Amino acid sequence: MCGIVGYVGYRQAAEVLMEGLKRLEYRGYDSAGIALVDNGRLSLTKRQGELDVLRGVMPRSEARTGIGHTRWATCGRPSDRNAHPFMSCDGKLAIVHNGIIENYAALRGRLESNGHRFTSETDTEVIVHLLEDHYKGDLRQALADSIKEIEGTYAIAAIRDGGQEIAAARKENPMVIGLGVKENFLASDVTALLSYTNKVLYIMDGETLSITPSEVKVFNAEGVPVEREPAVVTWSAEDAQKGGFEHFMLKEIFEGPNAMHNTLLGALDMIENGEVLPRIDFRSVKLVACGSSFHAAMVGKYVMEEFASLPTTLELASEYRYSPGARETPLVILITQSGETADTLAAAREARRRGCRTLAVTNVVGSTITREVDEVLYTKAGPEIGVAATKTFLAQMLAMYLLAIRIGYAKGNLSHDSMRSALSSLRQSSNMVQSVLNRMHEIEEASKMIDSAEHCFFIGRNINYPTMLEGALKLKEISYIHAEGFAAGELKHGPLALLDSTTPVIATAIKGDPTYEKMLANVSEVAARDSPVLGIGLEGDTELARLCERVIYVPKVKPVYSPIPVTVALQILAYHVAKRRNCSIDKPKNLAKSVTVE
Ligand code: F6R
Repeated sequence: MCGIVGYVGYRQAAEVLMEGLKRLEYRGYDSAGIALVDNGRLSLTKRQGELDVLRGVMPRSEARTGIGHTRWATCGRPSDRNAHPFMSCDGKLAIVHNGIIENYAALRGRLESNGHRFTSETDTEVIVHLLEDHYKGDLRQALADSIKEIEGTYAIAAIRDGGQEIAAARKENPMVIGLGVKENFLASDVTALLSYTNKVLYIMDGETLSITPSEVKVFNAEGVPVEREPAVVTWSAEDAQKGGFEHFMLKEIFEGPNAMHNTLLGALDMIENGEVLPRIDFRSVKLVACGSSFHAAMVGKYVMEEFASLPTTLELASEYRYSPGARETPLVILITQSGETADTLAAAREARRRGCRTLAVTNVVGSTITREVDEVLYTKAGPEIGVAATKTFLAQMLAMYLLAIRIGYAKGNLSHDSMRSALSSLRQSSNMVQSVLNRMHEIEEASKMIDSAEHCFFIGRNINYPTMLEGALKLKEISYIHAEGFAAGELKHGPLALLDSTTPVIATAIKGDPTYEKMLANVSEVAARDSPVLGIGLEGDTELARLCERVIYVPKVKPVYSPIPVTVALQILAYHVAKRRNCSIDKPKNLAKSVTVE
């Protein structure tokens, strides 16, 4: 849950590392630090707090080699002492780490009794002491020997005094090398490298490596050299920057139409070429994911059943691997924008162990999940930096529609014409997203209904039940308002007891949906408890407007596609509420973009 960068070359390492860390802050941001080889000697600077705190205390340095880290605490609270990097007792080696060392207590006990002095409460620190014990002149070999003693998961980067070399190792945490001319880079994520290079080498589980300004060597777990073709990343550095928007989240919401357009084109090609479908078993499917991706899966269940009559079950990735698995399905689809979520990766492995075919829907080319599954369908949303998923969520929903429509056609549920017409509706829905974006200021006004609330309900039915769960998740994660999503029909079974004039309710009622009338009745129930209701409905719906204090209109759309524009309205709403409350929108407290611990 942390970000790692490394640099060896001719530039000022501190600048490259700070720039890379800035791009990786979404992975963790409770502390940050840098280790440099300056005039042959190792120096460490690290601080609790965001990157700017570190920037404020960074001494000037001419170092050309270094490693950096941005942390999201898992073992040991956020503090200067617990921030990475860590240095060996002799001051000659330094490391940074992402992951968890499960046997650290036993290792620490042994190392302390052998005379190693620890300075932090972290699991990570054992690594640098192991490295010190194993170092006999070959840094990568020492790291390879050290990780043999470690149980757990890791991406580790190490440097030594006097050297222009970084050694690194990876297990279940992402790591990529950026290739330059007379310089090389290392990072947890390509976004940290894009200002310098788009030529990358993805590192696989169990591999170790050594990079110098002129050489890159990768070895497998047995110590045998590995040859791999570099990949070229098509995202630009610009794609990963704010481009004039106040926050990444807002920029990424505005990139929604593009994300949909690209996903549509990319996936259509792939599906048309038959790369995914022939091996899909059409008897039933299970969708597995976490967080927002799980909400995309919930929308997926509706559309798989609607377009393809495909019996579909859902499971949270964190629960899947512990479930008895009695009703196993031939196909398991894992949805994860990052492709690095530990729970989803574990679920993918479990699904294969249970003999299921696996298909991943992910946004990151070369991410770990792509190597754990049989098939991959990429969403093409581009890099997403804001911790709250926005455009990637839209792209995931779109991927669900695309798969459902194509499976529906392959199964004979949809005629060729119906398939074409469904695909053209999807194309139009990306224009609809643009119309919702054009209403940004109206939605900003509506956010005043919510910004001082302590609690807030989101209600919807049918295909907009998951949309409202997602709306509630978005609001709670960036504004810290307690927000709950409910299937509106469930209110009377308990939650209604909580409603009064201090709890605003956001209610989506889509004219034409079979549950529309029922939704209006639910809105009346809520209004009768004095809760202020903010309705979301189709343009021109005066019936809904009559029952609500205020309405946000989205363009007229067939109900089955309505989650797309409704989602965007809810994202903008959450954004403005959080902004009015002065919250840290791109980096909400206690959260990280890529959740690589279970
Ligand atoms: C919320 C959010 C998270 C992620 C979840 C899974 O805005 O982004 O709930 O959806 O952590 O992440 P991925 O999709 O990377 O597996």
